Amino acid sequence: AIPVIIDCDPGHDDVFALWLAAGNPAISLLGVTTVGGNGRLEHTTHNARVALTVAGVEGVPVAAGADTPLRRELTPATWIHGDNALGGPVLPEPVVPLDRRSAVELMADLLTTSAEPITLIPTGPLTNVATLLERRPDLRGRIREIIWMGGSTGRGNVTAYAEFNAWVDPEAADVVFRSGLPLTMVGLNISHQALVTPQVIEDIAAIGNETSAFGVELLRFFCSTYNTVAGMPEGPLHDPITVAIAIDRAVATVRSSHVDVETKGEFTSGATAVDLLDMLGAEHNADIAITLDVPRFWQLVREAVANLR
Ligand code: BDR
Ligand code: CA
Repeated sequence: AIPVIIDCDPGHDDVFALWLAAGNPAISLLGVTTVGGNGRLEHTTHNARVALTVAGVEGVPVAAGADTPLRRELTPATWIHGDNALGGPVLPEPVVPLDRRSAVELMADLLTTSAEPITLIPTGPLTNVATLLERRPDLRGRIREIIWMGGSTGRGNVTAYAEFNAWVDPEAADVVFRSGLPLTMVGLNISHQALVTPQVIEDIAAIGNETSAFGVELLRFFCSTYNTVAGMPEGPLHDPITVAIAIDRAVATVRSSHVDVETKGEFTSGATAVDLLDMLGAEHNADIAITLDVPRFWQLVREAVANLR
């Protein structure tokens, strides 16, 4: 199985990324690290432990990371995810413990001890990953690839041109895009193909286990806030696309491209400038996910949920 670390800020869609990784036999989920993003760090860390607890996942260490972006204040996405970043269901007290190590320490330990290089899957702001790359350049070769949910080839979802994860910590995203490591960007241009339709909710409800029941409550809340905020009653389930790509490359088409992250723009801070037409002639530093095999994606999500508690 593919060894994976998920670095996340749960967040409704992050929970599904965790479940997809924990419930699919092609993935070996070695660790979960958390970052301030959709909510403050205490909430995202609590929520990661809740997500694993609900699904009955044991033995995967969870470590807390950065509570603020590298050089900015954090503005949590309460408008979509609620005050605790996981609005909707009543959250059970997590039985999954919090690891004593920091996120960067846990990632470094796993990268050092894993038999094979590890796939890093960040589904939030890139603060922890950038910090890891800066502190432990010696471990670069232990990272097989990075598959990140964030950015966009077009418009944003928090400002006109910035996607939330890139907007929260553009300096961190800049470090990762300049790292030279194999990088796949799963931006809004593809994530808005993963729409939570009524049929999607019905199919997940029909699985009939505890995870699916909790998941349906998450999806209902998520769709209702997306409807209020963006007029989208079928919210886009961004984050698990990253894990789906790790499981099965054929779930998405990609295009190799050069990407710059805007860190200074007055109106465009956090924008990902994706040079799809190669106008700059600059070196390609990312594969950009373009088109999602939507039925296959939801099939992977359903199968994983069915494999959990
Ligand atoms: C991203 O921001 C968060 O709200 C979601 O969890 C996702 O990672 C989408 O812009
Ligand atoms: Ca997220």
